[in-house]
Amino acid sequence: MNANGAGGSSAETSAFDPAWLALRESADAAARAADLLGPLRAALPPDGPLTIWDLGCGTGSLGRWLSGRLRGPQHWILHDNDPVLLDQARGNIYTSADGLPATIETRKGDVGALHASDLVGASLVTASALLDVLTAAEIDTIAAAAACPALLTLSVVGRVRLSPPDPLDAEVAGAFDAHQRRDGRLGPDAVTAATEAFGRRGATVLTRSSPWRLGPGQSALTAAWLRGWVAAAVEQRPGLAPAADAYLRRRLDECTAGGLSAEVQHVDLLALPGGSS
Ligand SMILES: C[S@@+](CC[C@H](N)C(=O)[O-])C[C@H]1O[C@@H](n2cnc3c(N)ncnc32)[C@H](O)[C@@H]1O
Repeated sequence: MNANGAGGSSAETSAFDPAWLALRESADAAARAADLLGPLRAALPPDGPLTIWDLGCGTGSLGRWLSGRLRGPQHWILHDNDPVLLDQARGNIYTSADGLPATIETRKGDVGALHASDLVGASLVTASALLDVLTAAEIDTIAAAAACPALLTLSVVGRVRLSPPDPLDAEVAGAFDAHQRRDGRLGPDAVTAATEAFGRRGATVLTRSSPWRLGPGQSALTAAWLRGWVAAAVEQRPGLAPAADAYLRRRLDECTAGGLSAEVQHVDLLALPGGSS
């Protein structure tokens, strides 16, 4: 079960289904807080060169969005603990805003094992849809290791609004949030933890809302998200199953008929080390 956005985990060899990551990519791109790019660019060398780490890169969706929004030569280090996703990420072709092809390498590793020495020479640390699947210790590790700006995007914050409303919405949402917090993961508390972890180290932390706004034009994503959201809620609270099954059928029918919209709140966070803001 993918906690961030509740995607499926149907691939046998990957906990985060590449098909789910592909399905969400355009909604992620539309949701990203582009107004963090100004302060980010101001904190980077204006014409590069840039060495950019993408932690929990998946298949490289964030780089597909960000590389063309930054100028100068770029070297991307795509980092993940999932070798299946890294295999796909390896084939990315990124180009900078001024038309320069980026170089890419992949590194298999766990963010919890990162050290400052790994990130020596990094210009920027990025992540997307990662923080909420981490523990406080893992987030603290990132904050401790990164001496450069960090752009950590699309963390879920536990706020979902479906329209029209349904009496079971709040119960499913509560069970989903509890599922996200299982085994020490931070889930909806991740942004607060990251803000504190970077703040303790003297960074200036900027946050912006980056919601998915899903309407009839995104019905495939909405349906997949709903299935994952409800499945996680039931996994957390099995007693919900009978009501949740009926709820899911109702919601999918509304989605198919073009009568359902969903706002799934995320937050993008930019941490600028002391002295660079
Ligand atoms: C929700 S997916 C997001 C993938 C990608 N950033 C995107 O936006 O499409 C979370 C990613 O983080 C990776 N991941 C989760 N926990 C990790 C950890 N402790 N260390 C390294 N990668 C991790 C997963 O393998 C997965 O690729």
